[in-house]
Amino acid sequence: MRDSRETLVNSAFVVGHPINHSRSPLIHGYWLDKLGIAGSYTRLDVPPEAFAAFFSDLKNGRFVGGNVTIPHKEAAFRLADRPDERSEELGACNTVWLEDGLVHATNTDGYGFVANLDERAPGWDRIDRAVVLGAGGASRAVLQALRDRGIGEIHVVNRTVGRARELADWFGDRLHAHPVDALAEVMSGAALFVNTTSLGMDGMPAPELDFDRLARGAIVTDIVYVPLKTPFLAQAERHGLKTVDGLGMLLHQAAPGFEKWFGVRPTVDDDLRRRIIADMEG
Ligand code: ATR
Repeated sequence: MRDSRETLVNSAFVVGHPINHSRSPLIHGYWLDKLGIAGSYTRLDVPPEAFAAFFSDLKNGRFVGGNVTIPHKEAAFRLADRPDERSEELGACNTVWLEDGLVHATNTDGYGFVANLDERAPGWDRIDRAVVLGAGGASRAVLQALRDRGIGEIHVVNRTVGRARELADWFGDRLHAHPVDALAEVMSGAALFVNTTSLGMDGMPAPELDFDRLARGAIVTDIVYVPLKTPFLAQAERHGLKTVDGLGMLLHQAAPGFEKWFGVRPTVDDDLRRRIIADMEG
């Protein structure tokens, strides 16, 4: 009879609207299986008007916690009892867990971003200058992570320059905001280029960028992972630059949540990567 109770206690979720495209169940399901944990991870479609009720019900202990995705990341942050400093600064969270009867919250996107680079391009952070294209929610998490890694000079370039400026104001004097027409100049001598926009996603066109302007040996990474080799990564490869695709960010951002809910830190291995790629191709 232990099973029913254990399954209840060991249940986690991903909540969003819509949610059917989320690959989180595949990732956490893989880890649960591999680690032999009697737990479950469920996809929940909750529309915005029902989210507050869903969230307050978390305290009843039906779940150990879960992931929160679009469009609920900001609402989850506002509703959480104990958002950590990281999510406080971003105003959004993607991971929640129940502890001492309270809902705790954090944001692991920035962690996923740097862990992917740490794995694929060790030593990437020995740089002075990074350029980030885009100024949306994903960009915020990336900028926070770059700053926390001690990158000295970070440039954010965005089509709507006002959004980049808002980020620079929020972020402090190591972040510099620029309009898109300054991109080529801003790229000059930078050792890391990050695309955080949806440009190049799923067959969307992406402009040709002047990747020759980057420093020799520069790294180019894209948080878009569908397709795996985005137009920006393909261009950077043609310029002989090191590229890191965005799939690892998705996989690594999932690990801290799994550890909070199920008590074991899972590893991001090649088999998991292969399974997600197969799912994307299927
Ligand atoms: P997310 O939370 O995923 O970052 P978002 O907040 O909608 O999503 O931000 C999307 C980013 O992609 C923004 O930087 C957006 O630029 P604007 O702020 O000017 O809208 C950028 N973006 C999306 N489509 C774009 C396009 N066709 N050209 C240039 N930038 C684009």
